[in-house]
Amino acid sequence: MEKNGSIVPAEFPELKNETFLRAAQGEQTEYTPVWCMRQAGRYLPEFRETRAAQDFFATCRSPEMCCELTLQPLWRFPLDAAIIFSDILVVPQALGMEVVMVPGKGPTFPEPLKEVEDLLKLQQKVDVAAELGYVFQAITLTRHKLEGKVPLIGFSGAPWTLMSYMIEGGGSNTMAKAKAWLYRHPEASHRLLTLLTDVIVDYLVGQVAAGAQGGTEEGRGLKVAPMLQALQLFESHAGHLGPEQFAEFALPSIRSIAKRVKNKLLEDALPAVPMIIFAKDAHYALEDLAQSGYEVVGLDWTICPQDARQRTGKDITLQGNLDPCALYAPKEKIGELVKKMLEGFGSQRYIANLGHGLYPDICPEHVGAFVDAVHIHSRHLNKCS
Ligand code: CP3
Repeated sequence: MEKNGSIVPAEFPELKNETFLRAAQGEQTEYTPVWCMRQAGRYLPEFRETRAAQDFFATCRSPEMCCELTLQPLWRFPLDAAIIFSDILVVPQALGMEVVMVPGKGPTFPEPLKEVEDLLKLQQKVDVAAELGYVFQAITLTRHKLEGKVPLIGFSGAPWTLMSYMIEGGGSNTMAKAKAWLYRHPEASHRLLTLLTDVIVDYLVGQVAAGAQGGTEEGRGLKVAPMLQALQLFESHAGHLGPEQFAEFALPSIRSIAKRVKNKLLEDALPAVPMIIFAKDAHYALEDLAQSGYEVVGLDWTICPQDARQRTGKDITLQGNLDPCALYAPKEKIGELVKKMLEGFGSQRYIANLGHGLYPDICPEHVGAFVDAVHIHSRHLNKCS
């Protein structure tokens, strides 16, 4: 694995648990696979301990730390997938913007985009391997250290969500500054979205190359590891857009990313990987999302499972959508809620998850109760059907 002191994608251990990939690809599964958004996070005491010593983005730049944090939840819970520890805001950094994590406030851009002219300050052509190679190294290392236990998911923020951070400079209740761009500068907004789309395509393909390609540098293209990973695109700020703005400023990039990533993987003789689109609060666009070129549609908790199934059809895998706050409930209640969710979605073509990320004050034991309940109730449902 170590070659000339660097981490290279050599032959990866064989995958032992394919349940998540099978469900994502629409195949039958013995039970419903489960993972949690933000499963590597501050709700784990060991995460807080590892993270305490270092700045957040310095942690993101350390492949060893990212690997360790990615694996932590898997030592505790029988999760069916791992998601690489990183952040969506590494992409604006690659475009030349400064982003700092301010404790108690969250990610902050000291110099957000204010005027259309500020777009010229961004890198117009990003060498993704040079700027984000540390993420690829983290993926390669984690693929080895996972020992084939479960598949590894890579991810990126979607263009509108990243654009909104770059203009707002951080979190916002209204996204008024970013939305003002859409109304006042539609042409410049499209230029920025296109720039982001181009970088995201290279970034996602690079993640698959890092994680999914077998063989060493010399063997590139000759040998493909049988163990695939998956990719999730986070459109976390979809809910700030109405149906028309979503159709104009978010959906075209979402579609284009799926199409271009798939074409590029094929061209580069890399394995196809299932792709997940999670557009939070975009219920108005559910039918469009199901047709946007992704194998899996992730759902937040504001959508009822039966409605989601009816509106998306049989040819798509759904993922979600328990309210993260449901994990504050007593463990027996969590079991009941999971049972109801499974009955709503059905145990097949379904990946259980939360409707958004875990919160820092959620009790780890309750996360375990959620994971166990999915496995127990889905096996039972399968037996009865
Ligand atoms: O376990 C995983 O899900 C993988 C790691 C992951 C992180 N961020 C680690 C992280 C993933 C997939 C993300 C994606 C991300 N980052 C999103 C999309 C998902 C979503 O939540 O909608 C967004 C919007 C961000 C931007 C961001 N990064 C926010 C809003 C915050 C929270 C700030 C805070 O203080 O809570 C972060 C920081 C962050 N990213 C943390 C983690 C574990 C917590 C900060 C820390 O460890 O100090």
